[in-house]
Amino acid sequence: MCGIVGYIGHRDAYPIIIKGLHRLEYRGYDSAGIALINKDLKVYKKAGKVADLENFVKDINVGGTVGMGHTRWATHGAPSDRNSHPHSSGDRKLTIIHNGIIENYATLKEALQSKGHVFKSDTDTEVLIHLVEDIRNETGLEIEEAVRIALNKVVGAYAIVIMSQDHPDLLIAARKGSPLVIGVGKGEYFIASDATPIVEYTKNVIYLNDNEVAYIRRDDLLVKNIDNTVQIPYIQKLNLQLEALEKGGYDHFMLKEIYEQPRSIRDCMRGRIYPNKGLVQLGGIKEYVEKLKNIDRIIIVACGTSWHAGLVGEYLIEEYARVSVEVEYASEFRYRNPIISEKDLVIAISQSGETADTMAAIELAKEKGATIFGICNVVGASIPRITHAGVYTHAGPEIGVASTKAFTAQVTVLTLMAFYIAQQRGTITQSKLIEYLTELDEVPALVERALKSNDQIKVIAEKFKDAANFLFLGRGSSFPVALEGALKLKEISYIHAEGYPAAEMKHGPIALIDENMPVVFIATKHSSYEKVVSNIQEVKARGGHVIAIVSEGDTIVRDLAEYVIEIPQTGEAFVPLLATIPLQLLSYHIAVMRGCNVDQPRNLAKSVTVE
Ligand code: F6R
Repeated sequence: MCGIVGYIGHRDAYPIIIKGLHRLEYRGYDSAGIALINKDLKVYKKAGKVADLENFVKDINVGGTVGMGHTRWATHGAPSDRNSHPHSSGDRKLTIIHNGIIENYATLKEALQSKGHVFKSDTDTEVLIHLVEDIRNETGLEIEEAVRIALNKVVGAYAIVIMSQDHPDLLIAARKGSPLVIGVGKGEYFIASDATPIVEYTKNVIYLNDNEVAYIRRDDLLVKNIDNTVQIPYIQKLNLQLEALEKGGYDHFMLKEIYEQPRSIRDCMRGRIYPNKGLVQLGGIKEYVEKLKNIDRIIIVACGTSWHAGLVGEYLIEEYARVSVEVEYASEFRYRNPIISEKDLVIAISQSGETADTMAAIELAKEKGATIFGICNVVGASIPRITHAGVYTHAGPEIGVASTKAFTAQVTVLTLMAFYIAQQRGTITQSKLIEYLTELDEVPALVERALKSNDQIKVIAEKFKDAANFLFLGRGSSFPVALEGALKLKEISYIHAEGYPAAEMKHGPIALIDENMPVVFIATKHSSYEKVVSNIQEVKARGGHVIAIVSEGDTIVRDLAEYVIEIPQTGEAFVPLLATIPLQLLSYHIAVMRGCNVDQPRNLAKSVTVE
């Protein structure tokens, strides 16, 4: 949510910042702005996309070797030119970009207004820069100290960068609860919300920790805690390739990411499964083997698509490891005084590793003494840092706002965890593990085959692209797949869609079915096949249009459904990894045909760092 870029060095700052904003645009895309120092401090900002900002400054001299930029996802104040960042102090000598929320902004604003400060926007951010100005005016302190003191007065989450007209060779960056990375070059530094704008210039990065402030000059970096103690920053090497950030010939990042899944699932399993030996190794959680042998309960916390992955995990862990699993929306869990103790294991799932509700749920469970594992995609993000242990999904950067390859990678990790825990607890035999892992090893190749339905799915998309509603139905671990299919469709095509356990249809949703209702069934040949076939009959009898995801060679559903999409035959445990693929393609093509912005759907942001 909101993207931040900064540069100080010997190159022209503007091209670096604009390119960085394009890379970060997936984080927020309702307005953008930049600040540059070229003798004077200049600020340019505009509601709309980064491209609108570029257009706005095309005839302006945007020189200067120090600057910063911001792409916004509105929280306080509607998207507009005046609410766009950067925000400046009253005397316009200080300017700030911010990601996060200043929770006590209203109180601070009132106090500042009573001292004569005049605000030009509706944002919480502007309050912080006025506060810095106010502290400077009242105390005569240098900017470095004034910022530190101001940060001690704010409640909330922030990643900020501040520039000052009077200190043209200085960028001040700070973080609490929102990510910030500093790229270390030769005589130059880069700042960004994540490493994507930095990777083409340097692989040496520092992830700022919460409550740290960085004072950045061309040839000097000083990091302090906000209590004023000097910190020794840890420089680490980025393992990120530039190609991963480009569309690589695909029309959209989402399509590229759908097609990457054979590779991303393979990467996720690499070095972790040994089918011949019937062995799963998860280095990230190996210190907790004793704990895993003795736990009574696992609680999975997550949001959105990651929560759907958690539901798949529930089926797999209960089935193979025989531990009771509860799956919770992090946003509900954090506010309902959950019963939780040191005997519990909490697994937090998050693609971005920054989701505010998931982070708060982790903190709560930690306070109550639980052990916390993370399943995260972004290396170095906040969640892997606050959990006790975890397993990365290694899906690579996911730029499309709608999650695709991250979901299947999360499901893959949960599958591995289910087998790993089962292995430790002795709830699975060696021969069964050999059989399952051999099948799992085949999954990337089967996903590749499932992708071959693309042209057929385009035909189905054409037929139903104008539908007002969709139902997605499945049973067992195909129920979360149905939920995920519905979420994908609604978020990128804006068609209302609901996912349901197929048997629940009779308890209400069946009233919706008429000749205008497309119903997507996941009807593979596994334990509930006959029951799902009966549900298909019920929809048909009421005139609904049945689209069914079936196992290769199915003839029974083929005779009933209007359209069938075959996926390769596989064990029941691995159906979610395959059945998800046609649903992703279906929503993608419908959205494209409806002229929607697939990679940046309206109102959404990739990492939800506010609650
Ligand atoms: C949907 C989607 C969201 C995220 C949710 C959690 O396509 O991407 O529902 O899954 O916002 O985000 P993470 O996984 O980053 O915690």
